[in-house]
Amino acid sequence: MKIIPGPASKKLGESIAEILNVEAVPVFFKTFPDGESYIRFNIDSLQDEDVAIVQTTSPPQDQRLIQLLLMADNALEMKARSITAVVPYFAYSRQDKRFLAGEAFSVKTIVKLLENCGVNKIITLNAHNPKVLKTFNIPVEDLSAIPLLAEYFKAKGLVENPVSLSLGKKALSVAKEADGVLKGGFDYVSTRRDVVTGSVTLEEKQLRIENRDVIIFDDIISSGGTMAKTVKFVKEQGAKKVYSACVHPLLMGDAKKRILENGAEEIIGTDSVPSSVSKVSIAPLISKALTT
Ligand code: R5P
Repeated sequence: MKIIPGPASKKLGESIAEILNVEAVPVFFKTFPDGESYIRFNIDSLQDEDVAIVQTTSPPQDQRLIQLLLMADNALEMKARSITAVVPYFAYSRQDKRFLAGEAFSVKTIVKLLENCGVNKIITLNAHNPKVLKTFNIPVEDLSAIPLLAEYFKAKGLVENPVSLSLGKKALSVAKEADGVLKGGFDYVSTRRDVVTGSVTLEEKQLRIENRDVIIFDDIISSGGTMAKTVKFVKEQGAKKVYSACVHPLLMGDAKKRILENGAEEIIGTDSVPSSVSKVSIAPLISKALTT
């Protein structure tokens, strides 16, 4: 097996290669003055190799997706035996259906493109809607980094017997997963999303969190609006220390500031998306998935 660490996940790809004790193919890339992407592998052939391309597709997602497609098709042309696309943050996965008539079913389009560029399998993490991803032609393995995040809190001793919260009832399994490690109990904050504006409102719901430490788990922090509102909401219900944990810390604009200003002690994320809060590495999780 060879690992191809894409430009967006160089460090993560190299860590995976190191854990698996396999070669990491050096990738040269540049952006032309007009914005087009260029990719070159520093290797002559990938004949009969199983390759795993590691490339997250956080912003600038369109550029990173094009880089991923160029790398996949290049590996195909270089005669790789199989191509696994490791895409920790899977761009466009929130557009997982036609919410309004006439809308593009974006995530389906992205999977079709990967398939056409020779990708045999996709590995991702805490996909927004794993059920939808599994309805496409190529297999998609959706891993969960929630236990790793929970382990981090436990190992660092940041909280005392914390309550694990998810955002929305549908995501209750996330809080339950975290509670499997933290064992302080779990619940969800009730949310409603406006299909036109995408904005989230929190519904009235009494939580048993008075004087308790709380960790709010979410798959993505993008604008930080949802997390900031939730931190404020749980603080108002009497929580002691409140932490934000997420798998994909996109942290657009002043997201971090908004969350901290609303009372969070700290934000903890993974290196699915490299950022200042990426304290937990998903490299061991992905390495294991690539060998089983
Ligand atoms: C929503 O379904 C997700 O789980 C996140 O809560 C959401 O994408 C976060 O977005 P933002 O940070 O922009 O509020």
